[in-house]
Amino acid sequence: KSVKICVLTYPTYEGLCYPIEEIISGCKKHRIPVLVDEAHGAHLILNRDGPKSSLALGADVVVQSFHKTMPAMTQTACLHFSKHSILSPEQEERILWYLKSLQTSSPSYVLMASIDHMLEIVENEGFRKMEALVDLLNAFYQNVMNLNSIKVHRFDQMDPTKIILFVPNAYYESGIWDGRILAQKLRDEHMIEAEYDSKSIVLLMTSICTTSEDIIKLGEALHILDRENMSTMENKLSAGKGVNYKRIYDQISEEDTYVYSAFATIYMKKEEVDVAKSVGFISAAYVIPYPPGIPILVPGERIKGQTTELFPESLVKIQIVKEDKINEI
Ligand SMILES: Cc1ncc(COP(=O)(O)O)c(C=O)c1O
Repeated sequence: KSVKICVLTYPTYEGLCYPIEEIISGCKKHRIPVLVDEAHGAHLILNRDGPKSSLALGADVVVQSFHKTMPAMTQTACLHFSKHSILSPEQEERILWYLKSLQTSSPSYVLMASIDHMLEIVENEGFRKMEALVDLLNAFYQNVMNLNSIKVHRFDQMDPTKIILFVPNAYYESGIWDGRILAQKLRDEHMIEAEYDSKSIVLLMTSICTTSEDIIKLGEALHILDRENMSTMENKLSAGKGVNYKRIYDQISEEDTYVYSAFATIYMKKEEVDVAKSVGFISAAYVIPYPPGIPILVPGERIKGQTTELFPESLVKIQIVKEDKINEI
């Protein structure tokens, strides 16, 4: 009874969606109005096969930033009241009161004209342009599926117009390649500007104004950078720099290393040893360098020399299961 409103962000900045319809209908059952920050989803309505706008899924109030994903000038965000809103007239009035208090009393005709122009594009060619974009993107995703040092991940409920490039663990951790370098190379060498980059991901945006030339150029650039990076990596590894995760993982098998389940080690006695002397013992700890947050070692696993090669330099001591020492593996 104390819940006044449910506020959701959908899709996320990266284009990830989730079963918002279920959340909305759950709220409706309890007469809780739903407000959705759909800043990154003004274009969803145009994609018949992609995730739906929350406005079509029963949300009561939806805020969209046209300028983020549609051809409209910056500062053209819009607040929609659903026709089926369960807001009381008082609640609606209060929202409008806040808007009046916060907004300028001199609306910009330039910005309103920009919205009109966008709506004209949407009405006349929006669906056709989106369909063409989705076709281009499907071909693009096929084309870049088998790259080695750049992965283009797709998730079940994802806005296809957002492209998330991942730099896989092996390349990223070996210190040769990361998302920042990838974004910089896309900019400097291929004149492609990423929306966002971090060490592990690069986010690219497309829209109904993206052309087939743009998508082809991006595909070619990723193939060139992948080839270039693979040969840099091979050179560095042959010069003894960098860690080849794949080579090491290939030498470590579950039969070799699995002794106890992680759960079983909870009840065992433990002690700490120097990492340098830990080979042959059974780990009682996780080693999970972050990012990317993928375990290198788990409790119950026999520590092999190769595994310790992957440990971060800062790790000097490790917890092991007590009284279980073997001489050599
Ligand atoms: C989820 C989300 N909501 C709202 C905003 C702000 O939108 P606006 O540009 O319309 O102020 C942003 C980003 O800038 C955002 O990521």
